[in-house]
Amino acid sequence: MNKGLNNMEDIFIKRSSIYDCIREGCNVTNDKGILFNIDIEEASFVNLQAAFVEYIHKSLMAYYGKKGFLYDWRFKKNDFSFLTVYENEIFNLPNITPGGVLKIKKEIIHEYNALQSVVTDILIETNLINSLTHGQNIVPRLVPGSTSIKKRFRPLSTEKYHSDVWASQKGDAVLSIPVAGDPSTTIEFCKPIGVSADFFNSLENYDDAFERGYLENLEFLDFAKFKMIHIFDQLCVHRTLKQAGNPRISLELCIAADHEDSLFLKDKELSRAMQRNRYFDKSKLKELGKGIKITTGERMKDAEKYEQT
Ligand SMILES: [Fe+2]
Repeated sequence: MNKGLNNMEDIFIKRSSIYDCIREGCNVTNDKGILFNIDIEEASFVNLQAAFVEYIHKSLMAYYGKKGFLYDWRFKKNDFSFLTVYENEIFNLPNITPGGVLKIKKEIIHEYNALQSVVTDILIETNLINSLTHGQNIVPRLVPGSTSIKKRFRPLSTEKYHSDVWASQKGDAVLSIPVAGDPSTTIEFCKPIGVSADFFNSLENYDDAFERGYLENLEFLDFAKFKMIHIFDQLCVHRTLKQAGNPRISLELCIAADHEDSLFLKDKELSRAMQRNRYFDKSKLKELGKGIKITTGERMKDAEKYEQT
């Protein structure tokens, strides 16, 4: 069926080829065209885990203060058992969204920049930085292993199959790194089959993608794995998969590839850059968390109740 694109494989090949510069410059593994991995060096991954523990610990301290349960903080570097010990406290932080994003606040900005700095190191040591024109600062995420039906049915729930482009995310691809926790709480990646020309338009409810014919079916590609960079194109449909296990932590950022067909380069609206679509060019990306610090004026106590995002 012709749904606006002459051949649905054309869009798959076109989107896959945007990342040829990454394939040439980096050690790419598990290449599935619109989804692929790059290994992270052991030492950097250890640093990443340690920085993430500090970010969560500081968030707990900033909000709950030195309450009894935090006096005995014994979790060092890569001991993530605190994710289940303090699961209740973590998921009741005011700066955590229903999608699990642990948002930046003034009290935790130093730890955030330290975490960002490790990711900048990884972008440089994998040589990925040289295949990008732009990238975002990191989004740290904590996902519980189970959920309520109410949350699962939210219009833009990450537990529904989706592309981030449907939530108006700009850029070519998401770069995601699962950092620690329960591997059964993961991301499921799929290739859409029968893609229509509307696919890259936004939606108010991810369920509408099927009803509006953005795609006809899905073909399973892979699950997310620890200690690896995952790069998945906006064409790669995915969802958070919770299987009644324990929490998982990860981080992500959106990237623009150095290619003439980059969605980012073609997007005229980016000059208006809303917060979630703030991008840094390559020269600034190299300095994020280091010479260039991310800042915020909002404090923990000012955190809104995040209902929708
Ligand atoms: Fe997503």
